[in-house]
Amino acid sequence: MDITAAVARGAQVPLALETITLEEPRADEVVVRIVATGVCHTDLVTKSVFPPELPIVLGHEGSGIVEQIGSAVTDVKVGDHVLLTYGSCGTCTQCTTGAPSYCEQFVMLNTSGGRTDFTSPLSIGGERVMGAFFGQSSFATHVLVGRRNVVVVDDDVDLVACAPFGCGVQTGAGAVANVMRPAPHESIVIFGAGGVGMSALLAARALGVENVVAVDLSAERLAVAKELGASTVIDGAAEDVVAQVQAATGGGATFALDTTAANPVIANALLALAPRGTLVLVGLGEAAMEFEIGHLTGNGKAVRGCIEGSCDPQEFIPQLIAWHRAGKFPIEKISRQYPFSEINTAMHDAEIGATIKPILVLPTAD
Ligand SMILES: NC(=O)c1ccc[n+]([C@@H]2O[C@H](COP(=O)([O-])OP(=O)(O)OC[C@H]3O[C@@H](n4cnc5c(N)ncnc54)[C@H](O)[C@@H]3O)[C@@H](O)[C@H]2O)c1
Ligand SMILES: [Zn+2]
Ligand SMILES: [Zn+2]
Repeated sequence: MDITAAVARGAQVPLALETITLEEPRADEVVVRIVATGVCHTDLVTKSVFPPELPIVLGHEGSGIVEQIGSAVTDVKVGDHVLLTYGSCGTCTQCTTGAPSYCEQFVMLNTSGGRTDFTSPLSIGGERVMGAFFGQSSFATHVLVGRRNVVVVDDDVDLVACAPFGCGVQTGAGAVANVMRPAPHESIVIFGAGGVGMSALLAARALGVENVVAVDLSAERLAVAKELGASTVIDGAAEDVVAQVQAATGGGATFALDTTAANPVIANALLALAPRGTLVLVGLGEAAMEFEIGHLTGNGKAVRGCIEGSCDPQEFIPQLIAWHRAGKFPIEKISRQYPFSEINTAMHDAEIGATIKPILVLPTAD
C-alpha cells in the first residue's frame, strides 16, 4: 500500500514527507495506522550522528489502530488500539526470562533500521528505504510491525498523550520502578530533566518517593520539575552541584539517574550518591570514561546501565496507563503536540530544548 512517511536522507537535510510503498504483512506482522508518535532524543541522534543506512524513516514512539494482521497473529485484531514499543525476539534467554530489552537480537531488531533478515518493509520506486527502526519507523501514516512491538490497550486510552510511553517514558519511569525500586523514604537525584528524566521523576512521585532532586541547565525545565513534584531543583552549571545534592538528601542520594550522557555529569552523579548508592546510566554519549575504582569499593556504590527501563512493555505500559488514568502520571505537562506536517519544527524544538517531549499528531483517516 502507499503511505506517507518522513524520509531522512542525511544529517543536515530536513525530513521530507514522501509517498512510499509499505509491504503486505508477513505471517507474524501487523499493519497499524499511526495516530500519534513521540519524538525521542534517539531519533535526533540517529538522524544527525549515526544513521544505520540511508534513506531511513525514523520514529519509535508510535500509537495507533490496527488495520491488518498477518496470518499467524491470533491475539491482536483489526481495530485494536495499540501503543508501539521496541522489538524483541521472544525466544532468547533474556526474552524468556522477562528481560526483553536485553534481547540478544536487540541491535538488529531496533537500531539496524531493518528486519533481522536485513530486509525492510519500505521502498520508493523499488529503492529500499530502511523502515524497521525500533521495529516501527513511526514517522509515517502507517507502519508494519512485529507482533511483539504491539501493546494492545483499551479503546478509551488517549493514544496521543500516551504515544511516547513505548520508549522515552518507559526508559525513565522503568529506570526508577524496575531498576532502583525505591522505598518511599529513599532519595533519588535525576541529572537531566528532559523527556527521560521527567518520566523518572513522575514514576518516583507515583511510587511515593518524596525526596527527588532534579538537576538541569535550564531554569524552565527545573520549574516544570518543581511543578511535577521535585523536592529540590539544582542548576547543573553551579560549582557545588554535588554539595547541593548532598545537602538536599541528608548526605547523599540513595539513587542517581544520569540522562545527560555527559562524562563530567556522570562523575558528579557518582560523587553525589550516599554509601551503597546506585547510579543508573541511560544516555547515549561518549564511549568510555575513567573513574576511581576506590570510590566504588570504599563506599559500596554501584553503577549500572539500563535499556528501555529494563521493562517488559506488555506489563509496564499498562502500569503507566494505570498511573496516567489515576492522575499520578501527568505526561501532558511535559509534552507539546505538533501536526505531522511540522515534523522538522518538532525535531528542532527537541534539539534546542524548547519542547521536552514533542508528539506528532497524524491526520485522521477520513
Ligand atoms: N537507554 C535507553 O533505553 C534510552 C531510551 C531513550 C532515550 N535514551 C537516551 O537518554 C538520553 C536522554 O534522552 P531525553 O529524550 O530525555 O533527552 P533530552 O535532551 O530531552 O534531555 C536531556 C536533558 O539533559 C540536560 N542537560 C544537558 N547537560 C546537562 C548538564 N551538564 N547538567 C544537567 N543537565 C544537563 C538538558 O538540558 C536536557 O534537559 C539521550 O541520550 C537518549 O538518547 C536512552
Ligand atoms: Zn530475545
Ligand atoms: Zn527512544
